[in-house]
Amino acid sequence: MRKIAAGGLFLFLLCLSGSAIAGDYHVNGYLICSDCHTMHYSQRHSYSGDPTQVVYDPTGPFPKLLKADVNYLCLACHDGSGFAPDVFGSNTTSYVRQAGGLNDPTHDTGYGTYKGHTLSATDTAPGGTWNNPNGLTCIDCHAPHGITEQFRNLWTSDDSSDKFHNKHLTYMLDGQNDLTKDVFIVGTGFGLESRYGAKSVKFNEPDPQKSAYASWCGSCHENFHGSGGDASMGGAHGGDSGSTPWLRHPVADVNIGQNLGSKSDQPMGGGGGGEDKSSLTVYQSHTNRVQVMSQSGDWTNGTDVTPSCFSCHKAHGNKNSFGLIFMRGTGTVTEEGDAGTTGAMVDLCRQCHVQ
Ligand code: HEC
Ligand code: HEC
Ligand code: HEC
Ligand code: HEC
Ligand code: HEC
Ligand code: HEC
Repeated sequence: MRKIAAGGLFLFLLCLSGSAIAGDYHVNGYLICSDCHTMHYSQRHSYSGDPTQVVYDPTGPFPKLLKADVNYLCLACHDGSGFAPDVFGSNTTSYVRQAGGLNDPTHDTGYGTYKGHTLSATDTAPGGTWNNPNGLTCIDCHAPHGITEQFRNLWTSDDSSDKFHNKHLTYMLDGQNDLTKDVFIVGTGFGLESRYGAKSVKFNEPDPQKSAYASWCGSCHENFHGSGGDASMGGAHGGDSGSTPWLRHPVADVNIGQNLGSKSDQPMGGGGGGEDKSSLTVYQSHTNRVQVMSQSGDWTNGTDVTPSCFSCHKAHGNKNSFGLIFMRGTGTVTEEGDAGTTGAMVDLCRQCHVQ
């Protein structure tokens, strides 16, 4: 636990009504005010009577009656505590975290600021205009009081002036897939891995032209999402290389192997010139595969699989530049992919391309 070990300042009242739950956390019945708020900033014992569990950051009290500034507050439980999913820097769990690890400018344990989202960064989101002048926090992306039906409490809004307007990312839990929802959390057990491990999260594709996940990321990175021919993706472009709807890499709207090319002059072009775009045969030949969306819910053999942001990036970050996943296809899978930190871009591209 970075903050506690570093300064000995942080140890919070942990008032969980039992850490083993089967559903959403920080929402409805699992929104436990005392996880994050303190009324007087002078608490002498925990709700179960234990005086040793209550130590505050002495620089408080804090606005909105929080126990600490937002990032520090969240990380008190979400960085190596064991009972809540670890989301910062090194992986202290025994599983591959779906979102990987965040970084910040002062703690580089292999997670440099160029390797994913950086807490407290004031930079503008690439491909967009948004920034937080006070520095990026957890609650720029996650609603602290939760949102029913919304995957990971990621923000959505009914307010048309809000950047998260209509950015729904619905999900299904408890072993039952529903193809009309965007995400399926496969795990049924109570361990954290069953809900937060990379193997437990699968992406449906209720609208084959769209990706709810890409659209959510596009709230800040506006230019990187959309369907073929959308202005953000390049419009209907007819340049030297002919007409193409993609001037940025597809993140929705096209299945792997859907458009067989006609060029026969590709080096290693495979299949008599038929596979110079993306190749389903190549994708399916790998034991270890990057995540894709499937309309039919068949991620293994489906012919309707489509890449999106999560195919290439860890949402929080990892130990590779841009939080990229370098996946060769065999070997032990880590948050960096099976090629780890010694991999390269090509290990990612060759998941789906023959070049
Ligand atoms: C007192 C400890 C504690 C604090 C403080 C805390 N969390 Fe959590 N959080 C948890 C636990 C425990 C879980 C997971 C429960 C489970 O699934 O077993 C969790 C789960 C989550 C989830 C996943 C929810 C889901 O259902 O998928 C998100 C997102 C999250 N926390 C964000 C935050 C943010 C943002 C903050 C700061 C504003 C924060 N947490 C502060 C304990 C805490
Ligand atoms: C996971 C941490 C967390 C939990 C649990 C939590 N809050 Fe909050 N709460 C926050 C954060 C962070 C803010 C500040 C939001 C901001 O600055 O935009 C906040 C702000 C507030 C505010 C100020 C108004 C607002 O929305 O900005 C009120 C009132 C409030 N919380 C009440 C509650 C109550 C009541 C509960 C229990 C039912 C609760 N909170 C549970 C983190 C939490
Ligand atoms: C609330 C706004 C916001 C949302 C939503 C958002 N980002 Fe970002 N993102 C930023 C900002 C700001 C930066 C630049 C600062 C930084 O690196 O954290 C950034 C940077 C990045 C970077 C570059 C990291 C680096 O080290 O160079 C990647 C990759 C990225 N985001 C991917 C994503 C993906 C994938 C999603 C959706 C899961 C997403 N972002 C959603 C704000 C956002
Ligand atoms: C730029 C947006 C962004 C920021 C900032 C961010 N998260 Fe997340 N977080 C996400 C997204 C998107 C996911 C879901 C990723 C997926 O499933 O592919 C996620 C997943 C999670 C999860 C589930 C665990 C996992 O590995 O999937 C927890 C818990 C969580 N975030 C907590 C936090 C906390 C605590 C902070 C601040 C310390 C934070 N997040 C900062 C976007 C963000
Ligand atoms: C096919 C893989 C792939 C997909 C899909 C993908 N990215 Fe990327 N992304 C990359 C690579 C590789 C880079 C490194 C820089 C580059 O090549 O442009 C990158 C860089 C970025 C950056 C940093 C750009 C900068 O200026 O520093 C952001 C932000 C980003 N991606 C966000 C996203 C978002 C959001 C999505 C989904 C809407 C997405 N990416 C989908 C591969 C991908
Ligand atoms: C998960 C699968 C997947 C991964 C990984 C992937 N791509 Fe793609 N890529 C696709 C799909 C699908 C298309 C759309 C091809 C089509 O039109 O059929 C595409 C299209 C492209 C195109 C445009 C083709 C055209 O004719 O317009 C280029 C260039 C490209 N990818 C490069 C890359 C590079 C470079 C990487 C590695 C950073 C990469 N891709 C990683 C699936 C992927």
